[in-house]
Amino acid sequence: MTPKTNGRGVQVEDTKICVVMVGLPARGKSYIAQRAQRYLTWLSIPAKTFNVGNYRRNDAPQPSADFFDNSNAEGERRRRAAAEAAFADMLGWFRQGGVIGIFDATNSTKDRRKWVMDMCTREGIEVLFVESKCDNEELIMANIRDVKTTSPDYQGQDPEAAALDFRNRIKHYEKVYKSIDEDGDESHYTYLKMMDVGSQVIINRIQDYLQSRVVYYLMNLHIRPRSVWLSRHGESMYNLSGRIGGDADLSPRGHQYASKLPELVRQSVGDDRPLTVWTSTLKRTIATARFLPANYNQLQWKALDELDAGVCDGMTYQEIKDVYPEDFVARDEDKYNYRYRGGESYRDVVIRLEPIIMELERSEDILIVTHQAILRCIYAYFMKKDQSLSPWMNVPLHCLIKLTPRAYGTDEERYQADIPAVSTWRGKGSTAKHEDPIPEANMSH
Ligand code: ATP
Ligand code: F6P
Repeated sequence: MTPKTNGRGVQVEDTKICVVMVGLPARGKSYIAQRAQRYLTWLSIPAKTFNVGNYRRNDAPQPSADFFDNSNAEGERRRRAAAEAAFADMLGWFRQGGVIGIFDATNSTKDRRKWVMDMCTREGIEVLFVESKCDNEELIMANIRDVKTTSPDYQGQDPEAAALDFRNRIKHYEKVYKSIDEDGDESHYTYLKMMDVGSQVIINRIQDYLQSRVVYYLMNLHIRPRSVWLSRHGESMYNLSGRIGGDADLSPRGHQYASKLPELVRQSVGDDRPLTVWTSTLKRTIATARFLPANYNQLQWKALDELDAGVCDGMTYQEIKDVYPEDFVARDEDKYNYRYRGGESYRDVVIRLEPIIMELERSEDILIVTHQAILRCIYAYFMKKDQSLSPWMNVPLHCLIKLTPRAYGTDEERYQADIPAVSTWRGKGSTAKHEDPIPEANMSH
């Protein structure tokens, strides 16, 4: 079973939290739930979303708005059955070691919230309500247009008619909706209430570290359109000689990449808006970013420095195998968890990158010039890559990656500089200085 940690590598065997989403339809609940799940999973905290809509669709695939009218007894019964089925599956998952279950439904009445609260309390599960409240008509209409008219609920239907039906569905919910603690009788609950996409938040009775991590993360989310650009540094002298770590200079071809980077960035941004640039504190990333326009703000982060190879810093993989044969094998067996003597594991890197992820969520357009292992971890966050596979991903040199977060997923585009570079990818067991990556190692797999 995956060890349960609180995101700082500390085991939290007994904590179980049910994050209960609250809010009218089209308020971004599923969006928030997916984000929270992705973040927690990236931190190796077992987290799973249970979307009641998916259960309801098994029984009522394309119901019209009337199905959601509270005075429709039959609709009410079937909706409740869907909620109970999702909840039962969530309890089963908790019993098998789940730590944070996200119960994604409107949970928009006091009765429903009390039911969830009672059921969880009986099972020793903490409850954190997360409400998204939003009265911005324009935003709600955009949400309906962008995600609701294309949902399976309306597959094959006219988008205009679908939008109208969805508006009617919301009206039915509005008749019975109570914002959390609106009447002052839910003040004993633990909750985060976000108004108008976080422009105002209320936090009530947060109980422990894990809850506060989730709350802090959710408070940093925004939905303004933006992209994140990722690049490794240009080819370095160490890359040429197959050495790891260090603080080497760029190779001549690495310098060529640095000269070409501004053009590559301009091409991928598509207009003149300036980006903020983050590099590590190592020479090779700073040198790679040095020709970017002067109006690009540049910031150096220690947290973006390459994975620390400890006593192996500056060695080739062959030298590591010769001097530390057991370590060489142990690393290949569990590359994510293996910690270099006196250095770091990928798991350690993920933990030190948490503030970077937090800051990235708060920010808009950012270009990150960093290192192979770091880029793998950041990429894994955005693209939901399995952490046991991410350390084996091929991240080519001299390639700019543009990631654009969308409502459900992240779009990816690549820009090749067409400047040759060695491969620093290494397959399991290999000590080759430069090896051609196998297709399965390519990042989009
Ligand atoms: P339903 O109850 O029908 O499942 P929902 O509340 O789960 O609806 P989502 O499917 O998550 O709604 O809506 C996604 C849209 O909400 C996206 O377009 C996203 O940009 C937007 N969104 C994300 N966060 C918020 C927020 N805090 N407030 C309003 N809209 C948001
Ligand atoms: O070889 C380049 C490099 O950035 C090294 O400095 C670093 O130790 C290594 O990649 C990380 O990759 P891996 O985890 O595959 O050894």
